[in-house]
Amino acid sequence: MVDPSDIFDALRGVFDPELGADIVELGMVTDVEIELAKVAIGIALTIAECPMRNQIEGDVTRKVMAIPGIEDVEIRTTAMTKLQRAELMATARRRAREDAQPTMVQPTTRVLAIASGKGGVGKSSVSVNLAVTIAQRGFQVGLLDADIWGFSIPRMLGITERLKADDETRLMIPVAAHGIRAISTGLIVESEETALMWRGLMLSKALEQFLTQVKWGELDYLVIDLPPGTGDIQMALSRLLPQAEMVVVTTPQQTAQKVAVRVADMARRSFMPIVGVVENMSSFTSRDGETHYLFGAGGGEELATSLGVPLVGQVPLDPLLVEAGDSGVPIVSSHPDQPAGLAFAKIANLILELVPPAADETCTGRIARILDDLGAPQSDHAIVGD
Ligand SMILES: Nc1ncnc2c1ncn2[C@@H]1O[C@H](COP(=O)(O)OP(=O)(O)OP(=O)(O)O)[C@@H](O)[C@H]1O
Ligand SMILES: [Mg+2]
Repeated sequence: MVDPSDIFDALRGVFDPELGADIVELGMVTDVEIELAKVAIGIALTIAECPMRNQIEGDVTRKVMAIPGIEDVEIRTTAMTKLQRAELMATARRRAREDAQPTMVQPTTRVLAIASGKGGVGKSSVSVNLAVTIAQRGFQVGLLDADIWGFSIPRMLGITERLKADDETRLMIPVAAHGIRAISTGLIVESEETALMWRGLMLSKALEQFLTQVKWGELDYLVIDLPPGTGDIQMALSRLLPQAEMVVVTTPQQTAQKVAVRVADMARRSFMPIVGVVENMSSFTSRDGETHYLFGAGGGEELATSLGVPLVGQVPLDPLLVEAGDSGVPIVSSHPDQPAGLAFAKIANLILELVPPAADETCTGRIARILDDLGAPQSDHAIVGD
């Protein structure tokens, strides 16, 4: 009879092309049962609708059938549990980190990539307001506009100055606005029209430059405004910043199922865990106090449930938000007490809970705080006591 270790050796030759590792290392092989010349193999896929399913099944069959003594292969596919998926992501991220290039972003910086299954749902609005709110809480925050030619961050932050480079290091210096530091192609090119000339540019290269040639300095959080779609940028991001996590923005429209598959696929291909879902343009409350659900209801909750993550908040439709985007003052600065401003504050608080600053977790962060605590009262005491 064939030895199970021969089967595992053969399965190590089956690669998940997107995750770049073999299915044994990724923990996708759940069991192997051999009965004479017949073998049954359990394969756990990341999601039931896994687009790689046919390819993986075909490869498994071919590799295993090649073992002398095996005449029949039965594959039993299942979908991974949340825990199995988390373990698989950890393995894929560890591998990605091994070949990642060094960036100017410290490994302790928390990276929140704002993504969506389709365009125009409010990713940039969420990115800006989230970044500014986190900074208002006292953290060092960077905002990277990864929408290389569809940039909107400079306008939303009211930045008109151009990007400058450090004389000595030649590194680009992010522009400070509303308490955060921002980088965007819009700070380099003349106008939103000239950006079209960048169309030939390799997107992933531009992102790489923004991560390796920018003097970010110390950051607790880096918020990344992703372009719409599930393309190169998302994959390059996870290669360059393996710590990146995704916040998904959606509208309440009941197209969630389609969006969910797209987002799950994006997360899978970029190994990014999903922190939660933000539902934007949730409802509109008119002056007479009546609430209208212009774009339907329940899409955010439905998407969050199907992704197995929390719905971290709902932002109402608010003309003030459009105005804020055009005037260059984010709504959390101009109208923090209005419903949309309050919604962003709540979302930021929840995200800070779900993704706490790394300094709180590391030993060096803790030691630095203890030293601070020890140092501060002593000097206070010296002054007060005199
Ligand atoms: N809650 C809201 N209420 C009213 N208007 C909003 C709201 N959220 C976003 N908008 C407006 O909708 C438009 C699209 O928003 P935004 O640019 O943030 O979306 P996006 O997902 O980044 O788009 P793209 O996919 O083009 O990058 C903007 O004009 C913005 O001001
Ligand atoms: Mg945008």
